[in-house]
Amino acid sequence: MSGHEPLVFSGMQPTGNLHLGNYLGAIRNWLKLQEQYRCLYCMVDMHAITVDYDPKQLAQATREVMAAYIASGVDPKRSIVFAQSQVREHAELAWIFNCIARVGWLNRMTQFKDKAGKNAEKMSVGLYTYPVLMAADILLYRGTHVPVGDDQKQHVELARDIAQKFNNDYGVPNFFPVPDPIIQGTATRIMSLRDGKAKMSKSDPSEYSRINLTDDADTIATKFKKAKTDPLPLPESEKELDERPEANNLVSIYAAFTDKGKQAVLDEFKGGQFSTFKGALADLVVSKLSPIAAEMRRLLADPAELDRLMLRGADQARAIAVPVMAEVRRVVGWVT
Ligand code: TRP
Repeated sequence: MSGHEPLVFSGMQPTGNLHLGNYLGAIRNWLKLQEQYRCLYCMVDMHAITVDYDPKQLAQATREVMAAYIASGVDPKRSIVFAQSQVREHAELAWIFNCIARVGWLNRMTQFKDKAGKNAEKMSVGLYTYPVLMAADILLYRGTHVPVGDDQKQHVELARDIAQKFNNDYGVPNFFPVPDPIIQGTATRIMSLRDGKAKMSKSDPSEYSRINLTDDADTIATKFKKAKTDPLPLPESEKELDERPEANNLVSIYAAFTDKGKQAVLDEFKGGQFSTFKGALADLVVSKLSPIAAEMRRLLADPAELDRLMLRGADQARAIAVPVMAEVRRVVGWVT
């Protein structure tokens, strides 16, 4: 209806420790989209500096995320894969959007409140306006669809508000599309192996809480063996998993990797002990992750080649971004 070509934009922060949740919850969902749509998949290294970080590790973490995208099946011939900081227009549009977004809008962002806790006064201004940069990421390419986890939905809604206010205030109806979030289902929301109510996270201090993409077979087996469960055997029906978050998580991981429903997994394992199921799960996960880990290692062994690929991605991204920015500059009244 809006007349905008469909374009998918998503991104991930290069903060190290890529894990199963990143793969099943994000990257894997991007693969189908690239068969149908123009897709841009970004390493958001500008977002990565909004909190304390180690500048000596950032470039390598960015390469690792790029390697993980490609090893998982994001095809750089089909999709544009690039580092945010290499396309300067992100910063330029973010500034303009900082002048569109209202303080009241940002004050409502729950992720900032969660991250800042009682220390809001000591957080960087960049962390506060993080969602504004995210809106610029998407709209710089006139992105229409944004696959994200639940926790980013509010940020995509902010991007919608910014797009609409820009179009209105400058009297340029339909200049930016109003992007839709594509929310990944709860089936692919992977939880910590130590606590079925907390998301699997790279910042969890316990290594046993997550399966890293580069974990070897023994580590994966040990982590699943130690994964928290309740004392009951596997239930007959999916419904019974509702009250058993840890059991639910392990069954969900199995289901995701076999592309089956959870009920189909239970039909196979119902009544059995978790010790048996965990063995089968570890074998399955190892068989799926080891080729990805091997491909990541192969790519990371040649950082110069990865850097070349990254620059090419940035060139392709810029080919879309530069003409959009030229129009934006004219619309806002800057000398051109
Ligand atoms: N904030 C997102 C996250 O932490 C990452 C991100 C940055 C993003 N820019 C984006 C996701 C644009 C989608 C579109 O997951």
